[in-house]
Amino acid sequence: MTDRSDELLARALSLFPGGVNSPVRAFGGVGGRPVFFARGEGAFLTDVDGRRYVDYVGSWGPLILGHAAPAVNAAIAGALAGGTSFGAPHEGEIALAEAVRAAMPWLDRIRFVSSGTEATSAALRLARAFTSRDEVVKFDGCYHGATDSLLVRAGSGVETLGLPDSPGVPAALAALTHTVPFNDAERVQDLFRRRGGAIACAIVEPVVGNMGVIPPAPGFLEALAEACHAAGALFIVDEVMTGFRLARGGAQERLGVRGDLTTFGKVIGGGLPVGAFGGRAEIMKLVAPAGPVYQAGTLSGNPLAMAAGKATLDALAVPGAYDRLERASARVAGGIAAAARDAGVAVRVNRVGSMWTLFFAEDAVTDASSARRADRARFAAFFHAMLDEGVYLPPSQFEAAFVSLAHDDAAVEKTLSAAKAAFAKIGR
Ligand SMILES: Cc1ncc(COP(=O)(O)O)c(C=O)c1O
Repeated sequence: MTDRSDELLARALSLFPGGVNSPVRAFGGVGGRPVFFARGEGAFLTDVDGRRYVDYVGSWGPLILGHAAPAVNAAIAGALAGGTSFGAPHEGEIALAEAVRAAMPWLDRIRFVSSGTEATSAALRLARAFTSRDEVVKFDGCYHGATDSLLVRAGSGVETLGLPDSPGVPAALAALTHTVPFNDAERVQDLFRRRGGAIACAIVEPVVGNMGVIPPAPGFLEALAEACHAAGALFIVDEVMTGFRLARGGAQERLGVRGDLTTFGKVIGGGLPVGAFGGRAEIMKLVAPAGPVYQAGTLSGNPLAMAAGKATLDALAVPGAYDRLERASARVAGGIAAAARDAGVAVRVNRVGSMWTLFFAEDAVTDASSARRADRARFAAFFHAMLDEGVYLPPSQFEAAFVSLAHDDAAVEKTLSAAKAAFAKIGR
């Protein structure tokens, strides 16, 4: 029997590569065909065939207030009445930037862009310009957007001068990117001993979301910052996923570290396309037009996006917001781990705040190598069993699931009873 998602997929395949406009949406990691959605409300998504799901994708992180949050919708409608775009300065940009800086006072200057990818690629250019160096350091399994210099990983967990992860990335550019295993401070120190004088910056997801959730080992981020600074390189904290999600001051507040530059996306746009980068004044003053490092965008600082972001940050500034998020997230992740235990299924649940991942793994998952040892076939079976039970998880073992403030008791209970049924279905 075909349903409307099947029909739409057939049309989409004739229009878009792989039928989608961003790869993970295609269900390549779990098999089957993607679900097409008609609407979202609170913690729930409704598909084009009228089926309802508790949603843990949250548009891959931005929707920390849930779908169609009334405050965000009202802010967008208010901005809309004044026009969709000016391509000129307006007060909404200042309001959002002030809200960001109130939460992270170590950001002297900020530049808004339209995606996380734009933010990280501009931050890299800026770090290279500031240090007059070309080489960069990233971590195996960390994703910083589809920007050429960062589409690089290590071979077999060995830190190397990079090979491109995608055809089309010039080998000569990839060769400037060093990739090191996450959580391996010794390898970082060794690399900086050998190449420190040529390294412009290291960029890191402070809590990784893009190989599934992996917290930093105690002292790892501090050691990385120290290695950067001893070598005169910049420490870039990529908070595209974690910013305003793990705390108002992001992972940096939660973990007590500070980047020279910070990148943002997702939550600060409240579900509209926004990114940003910011940091110390002496670095940011190089950005055009204050300085020579070119960066620009037709829709940067878009009034609707600024309004959606500001409404989201305002809601998160209400006392107790992050405590509520923490409690709901602990119930979801703890409940799923307990359901697995009861069913005799070996899993590891990693959670930091409202980001969590269920790994079908026996051992602790602490880096890309241990994440890759997880059983993807078991994850796929669990994913589909959950989908059948009305819970929409990220369709890949290597992604974070997100809890929102709209995940109330009813949504959590539905999730946990679905998990019980799903573990029973997939067996040990
Ligand atoms: C940590 C991190 N950095 C950068 C990006 C790229 O952001 P965008 O998809 O908005 O370009 C992502 C996207 O998932 C991300 O998780």
